Amino acid sequence: PAKRLVIAVDGPAAAGKGTLAQALAQFLGLPYLDTGLFYRATARLALDAGAPLEEAVRFAEQLEGADLVRPDLRTPDVDQAASFVARQPKVRAALLQRQRDFAAATGAVLDGRDIGTVVLPDADVKFFVTASPEERARRRYRQRHGCNPQETATLAAEVEAIKQRDSQDENRATAPLRPAVDAHHIMTDGLDAAGVLKVVVAHLEKRGLLDPT
Ligand code: CDP
Ligand code: CDP
Repeated sequence: PAKRLVIAVDGPAAAGKGTLAQALAQFLGLPYLDTGLFYRATARLALDAGAPLEEAVRFAEQLEGADLVRPDLRTPDVDQAASFVARQPKVRAALLQRQRDFAAATGAVLDGRDIGTVVLPDADVKFFVTASPEERARRRYRQRHGCNPQETATLAAEVEAIKQRDSQDENRATAPLRPAVDAHHIMTDGLDAAGVLKVVVAHLEKRGLLDPT
């Protein structure tokens, strides 16, 4: 049913942005870009080089396609380092145009923190996906370990890491994590991935953005 829609999906860590954006892209026949990978890959290259994270801009400028598909971009150390390099205006500036170009040619679904506010302020539709920190911590733990945390302390540590990264992402000066004024909010506690997709498709339908089939 695809027009050349440009769709922004933003939200805090482990809210289910990627899961939704990917499913939506497939449903609409659009390309999908996980913009967090740019920040993760920048951080990974700086960590590997033993370079100070304050100097990460040179790694952002040199990023290649292959850096974005590395298997070691979703570790806890990269979570925090990515959020640290993402505070730097020069890093963000180095990555901005590539994200815009991706959407410009064919339409696309992008997910991240500032897609609706900065990267694609003219997107056709913007979603802001959230869940409670506890729910997001459980999801991230299950995603990484394939089971629920056995100890309450383990879950508590995950909740802390998530809250700390949210706070860093929300409180930076440049392109902070924040819903666009025209974003459609979806609170996903108690919803599985299929349930979230249903809400989103219903919204697109209501807005008249789906081709009648
Ligand atoms: O992209 P983001 O960090 O926001 O989250 P994700 O990687 O899409 O989702 C994190 C984990 O939560 C994945 O393992 C998803 O399968 C799971 N998930 C879920 O349990 N319920 C949802 N409604 C959405 C995602
Ligand atoms: O999947 P998860 O939500 O845990 O993280 P991610 O989307 O891969 O993003 C990792 C980090 O990159 C975030 O904590 C942000 O600091 C940064 N980021 C950003 O600043 N802007 C974006 N558009 C995407 C990610």
